[in-house]
Amino acid sequence: MTAEVVRIGVLGCGNVGGALVELVERRRGAIEARTGVRLEITKIAVRDLSRIRPGDIASNLFTNDPEAVVNSPDVDLVVETMGGIEPARSLILTALTNGKPVVTANKALLASHGVELYTAADAASRDLLFEAAVAGGIPIIRPLRESLAGEPITRVMGIVNGTTNFILSQMSESGVGYADALAQAQALGYAEADPTADVEGFDAGAKAAIIASIAFGVSVTADDVYHEGITKVTADDIAVAARLGYVVKLLAIAEHDAATDEVAVRVHPAMVANSHPLATVRDAYNAIFVEGAAVGSLMFYGRGAGGYPTASAVLGDLIDAAVNLGKQAHASLGVFAAPKLRAIDDTRSEYYLPFDVVDRPGVLHAVTGVFARHDVSIRTAEQHGLGADARLVFITHDAREADVQATLRDLADLDVVRRIGGVLRVVDV
Ligand SMILES: NC(=O)c1ccc[n+]([C@@H]2O[C@H](COP(=O)([O-])OP(=O)(O)OC[C@H]3O[C@@H](n4cnc5c(N)ncnc54)[C@H](OP(=O)(O)O)[C@@H]3O)[C@@H](O)[C@H]2O)c1
Repeated sequence: MTAEVVRIGVLGCGNVGGALVELVERRRGAIEARTGVRLEITKIAVRDLSRIRPGDIASNLFTNDPEAVVNSPDVDLVVETMGGIEPARSLILTALTNGKPVVTANKALLASHGVELYTAADAASRDLLFEAAVAGGIPIIRPLRESLAGEPITRVMGIVNGTTNFILSQMSESGVGYADALAQAQALGYAEADPTADVEGFDAGAKAAIIASIAFGVSVTADDVYHEGITKVTADDIAVAARLGYVVKLLAIAEHDAATDEVAVRVHPAMVANSHPLATVRDAYNAIFVEGAAVGSLMFYGRGAGGYPTASAVLGDLIDAAVNLGKQAHASLGVFAAPKLRAIDDTRSEYYLPFDVVDRPGVLHAVTGVFARHDVSIRTAEQHGLGADARLVFITHDAREADVQATLRDLADLDVVRRIGGVLRVVDV
């Protein structure tokens, strides 16, 4: 059998692009034997041509003109691993218009301009594949798009940011505070010098938007996602959670309510019961827990970032797109409806609420009276002495966010309440 050669232009040769180029070289023979398609990298765009690149890549492949890659007659298929919104967006649109399928790892771009790009791919009858954009090496986009295409997904809950999972794991297991755990993550290369995108939940929010769009067939952008980060989680919250049988995790949650057709997408730290499969996900690992009406619960687990795990997902897409190109086929992304977004105020959860109060008779009565007034019912209550004060810790039954916020506002006005600690949502099995 004569192999069909598919010529690839790669935009970006950093952590992911560099690992991809190496994997293509290493796996070329095996891929050809299995698929009949020979992958040849013909162009690689970078910003700085003078930078020494790892591996053994022929220098004549490099260019600092990415436009030349997407317009080249010597490129059949484009891999975008440069990141950012522009010029990545325009380059992908040009590649598709030129009839070249595109594989991308760019979560920020898909979370802001996904539907524009999916529509352009369908109009050009070309693949736009992006498994690597959510949770790096973990297959989640393809399972949602293909394996679960017939499944009404009710909820997807994920630990989709390795940096914050590492920090929270350190805080849980070594008892250190947030600042020390962050410094450790930075020293190990898990956190950037400016960790804002990770610790404030922006990165997880972008992934949640992509997951919600694919799982529910609606167009959700990062701006639609409510997010809270982990910077207010204290060692004390984590210790109390542990005593009550929970671990604290930063969760990305996308829910669809079949009764109202509403979609709710949010990122926040949560207390996850030790018995829940997500509670076992430690260090920089990621996992995504999917719930469907017929299939029940599924969990996808692995390395959510890093050059090679992410490049592995890019390579899987690349092979798929190359084989499809040979057949003049492509996988349609279908129609994305405008979502009926449920406001965070209307979402429901159980809540963990800690307070420091004056330790004197009648305080508990005053505090629980505020909860009753807002229809927030208490599932468990704990009280500990703190010298002249006391710490009250409540876990509520399922309650509406707006009612909990109103309760907190009124409690802040009570003169017996000294301080309201970090509020956490609670996820049981
Ligand atoms: N790293 C991960 O673990 C991971 C995981 C999942 C998804 N992703 C996504 O993968 C993408 C790439 O991430 P990365 O970590 O590989 O980034 P990176 O190491 O910073 O690499 C970016 C590459 O793109 C090139 N580049 C950037 N802007 C360019 C421009 N205007 N023209 C030409 N070349 C340009 C850079 O060139 P120079 O080398 O010359 O600077 C570099 O080679 C991002 O969208 C990211 O969100 C990354």
